[in-house]
Amino acid sequence: MQSVTGKVPLQERLIVALDAPTLEIAETWLRELKGVVHYYKVGLELFTAHGWKAVNLVKNYGGRVFLDLKLHDIPNTVSRTLASVCEHEVDMVNVHALGGLEMMSLARKALDEYAAGRSKRPQLIGVTVLTSHDQKVLSKELGIRHSIKKEVLHLAGLVQKSGLDGIVCSPQETLWVRKKFHENLVIITPGIRPSGTEKGDQKRIHTPEKAIREGSDYIVVGRPITQAQSPKEAAVKIFEAISSVV
Ligand code: C5P
Repeated sequence: MQSVTGKVPLQERLIVALDAPTLEIAETWLRELKGVVHYYKVGLELFTAHGWKAVNLVKNYGGRVFLDLKLHDIPNTVSRTLASVCEHEVDMVNVHALGGLEMMSLARKALDEYAAGRSKRPQLIGVTVLTSHDQKVLSKELGIRHSIKKEVLHLAGLVQKSGLDGIVCSPQETLWVRKKFHENLVIITPGIRPSGTEKGDQKRIHTPEKAIREGSDYIVVGRPITQAQSPKEAAVKIFEAISSVV
């Protein structure tokens, strides 16, 4: 697989999470951020409420789309769902790595079948351990005996073996993932909090500049931008911070 680090244009390295209940709210953010932010994440909340209208809204504003469905089902269901997602020409889509090797390999196959004879397919990403989980949740609630680090590295290995393009992990694991997998996996990190902003429900967090310095290709930022007094100013500040380290 090709190395991607350093090749993602700066303007695409910030992905804003459009976690909104309505298209009107999402559009307010898109209008405000136009010209500054070029990549958006449509997640479960907006997609469940408004489906492909939400994706098309982002495209109408010229934005790229990361469809964050975090699919986690049997291999056949996931691959058929992805075949249908491909028809809508999103730029990135994801599945849970906990779905396993067979599910992820079939998911990749669905994308390859779509891509045959076309110039482009969505990037396929595997979610490792959610950034809202800490060690206590992992071991006491979920019964996973590994440390977070070991679990993330293990799932990243499965993702790579299945032929996916990259992973979602917390910025606190990026250095380890880079050390083990070098430039062979795209790394996407939510759990980003500029200094002085609320942590919310995120547990394993870093600042934008630290996340990028330690090897994130893309950072996903929601509330620190969308709930800021001026979303545009908050996004500009994040670009300033990350441009100093790339
Ligand atoms: O508002 P905040 O910056 O915490 O938003 C982070 C976004 O990234 C949310 O949309 C959340 O669903 C998503 N995400 C995450 N942790 C993951 C994968 C996705 O927080 N492991």
